[in-house]
Amino acid sequence: MKRLKTHTAIICSLFTASIVLYSCTTKEKANVSENKHFNQTDNWIVLDKTDATKEGHTFSWTFEVKTPSDYVLQLVSTEAYFKNNESVKIKIGAQEFEASLLKNHLINGNEIVSEFKNIFSIKNTEKQTLSITTEADFKSLRIIPHYKKPIGSGKYHQEWLAMHQSKEKQDALQRFKEAKLGMFIHWGLYSQAGGLWKGTKINNAPHPGPKVAEWLMYAFQIPREDYRALAKTFNPDKSFAENVVKLAKDVGMKYIVITSKHHDGFALFNSKHSEFDMVDATPYKADIIKELYNACLEEGIDFGVYYSHGNDWMDGSDGNYKNIKKVNDSLGIYTHPNGKNLWDPSENTHESYLENKAYPQIKELLTMLPELRLIWFDGTGFTTEAQAFQFYKLVYERNPNVLVNRRVGYAFGDYLDAGDNKIPSASETLEKYWETCGTTNNSWGYKSYDDDWKSPKELLYYFVDILSKGGNYLLNIGPDGKGHVPETSAENLRDMGKWIHQNADAVYGTTRWKTPNEGQEETLLDGTGHRAAKGFKRDFTSKDFWFTAKEHKVYAISLTQTEGDILIKSLKKGEGDIEQVKVLGSDKILSWNQNKNGLQTTITGVPKDALGYVIEVTLKNN
Ligand code: GLC
Repeated sequence: MKRLKTHTAIICSLFTASIVLYSCTTKEKANVSENKHFNQTDNWIVLDKTDATKEGHTFSWTFEVKTPSDYVLQLVSTEAYFKNNESVKIKIGAQEFEASLLKNHLINGNEIVSEFKNIFSIKNTEKQTLSITTEADFKSLRIIPHYKKPIGSGKYHQEWLAMHQSKEKQDALQRFKEAKLGMFIHWGLYSQAGGLWKGTKINNAPHPGPKVAEWLMYAFQIPREDYRALAKTFNPDKSFAENVVKLAKDVGMKYIVITSKHHDGFALFNSKHSEFDMVDATPYKADIIKELYNACLEEGIDFGVYYSHGNDWMDGSDGNYKNIKKVNDSLGIYTHPNGKNLWDPSENTHESYLENKAYPQIKELLTMLPELRLIWFDGTGFTTEAQAFQFYKLVYERNPNVLVNRRVGYAFGDYLDAGDNKIPSASETLEKYWETCGTTNNSWGYKSYDDDWKSPKELLYYFVDILSKGGNYLLNIGPDGKGHVPETSAENLRDMGKWIHQNADAVYGTTRWKTPNEGQEETLLDGTGHRAAKGFKRDFTSKDFWFTAKEHKVYAISLTQTEGDILIKSLKKGEGDIEQVKVLGSDKILSWNQNKNGLQTTITGVPKDALGYVIEVTLKNN
């Protein structure tokens, strides 16, 4: 049972999430009550077979979307033509692919909706053509927003924009952009378990889901009362705050974001709105968020909190899953379980959780931490557009200097992220500033048996790649139950930090230069699971450079200890008149030659243990 300290009346009205009567683009009808907050079909496109141009078995239409995003396709028919292996040929503009079946759903008693696995992006609102080649006897083809990128109605856009563009937010964003490197801390009750439950590793846990240690409760579907008991032994060392702040300083991290409440619902701060917190439920009995906040302020490090608003396995009920599913089923949309507690949900509603725990706790954090810089929301799941907006607004109204990340939901973040352990490609144009969050092994929370630590070089490579593309890196540590940071990860970070301190000019306050990099292929980092499975193998050569820029300086970053002649092609004649060339950290001015092939110079004296060096090229101010 949930134990919320303050109880407003239990909201009995089930969150009638969701329902849609008509959509402007569809002719679908759903027989459920209307709720303006959640219009599932607002951004659908329905293409009727009767409107298609037909050539053999190929059907073509033109269409346009209201909102560029990721979409999936569904074919509606009266017979289940697609079983397991059949695929259809799809062409959308220049994108061509074989679509294979994800799932068949039955709707309206006799219609089959076949949803395909492929996710594709539609990047603009211009007219496009789509064709499908299939022998299936279908009625219509539907283009549906992919569940991971909910599309807002635009209803809150102006109000959001006014807040987002306020001086406070823009100043905060500027400070954030200059910081470049932050420390993420995943720490909570699960840290004591180290990725094992009753002797079984989370990787062998019986239930699907991410194999990261903070998902312990989910992976083993631990009943809430059993999980709650973990609080009784959570008694970290008093030195936690001081130690991690020292580490952040050593590495050159300018901000810290700590899990004030992760998906398990446990708050590391003193909350009046839940007893499942550090002060009420643990022998530690003190507010460790406040301790870390104070330690950060003392050392001049910006402080932010992660807060799982969408998922709360202790008090968040089933995260609104059943309501959403009911509606989706009637429309033939697949409902992703989205990490919700379906094994032992609390008896309240998800909406009452928001009212009685999530919103109040956000207010508490904002009151308790006046110099807070960032709230990093997560677990969006089935948060509605109105709820996501409410979180954003709540933060702004209490402290407009606090940034909010993308995962608050819909388009309400002040900045973006490319996804966990993902770096956007250099050619991707993002409409907002961005940050990549990354792990130092393959888990966020402490996993005692994962020693696949990313080497200092690997970490630095990601950082440099991110810098060259103009983003921030939020790099994680997962302390154990005592609050100790695994030694190898701390060492690796410190090694990387040596390079950062030495080359600080090429890091802080820089922006992307016109050319992000030369010499190497695109980044390999494509998600936590991807890196875990593939490992990291990469050689860097003296021809590889990443660039950053500040005022009239360009920094060419190499991840080698080159001795001898180098050529930087992107700085060839015509790309800027050069005033001076030197290696960062040394006073020696280098002789150089700029011609049509590039900038040539000779490097000497890079220490053998250096992770790389940086050439600072000062351009003439013309
Ligand atoms: C995912 C995971 C979560 C982790 C986060 C970090 O959302 O659910 O455990 O905190 O990514 O970005």
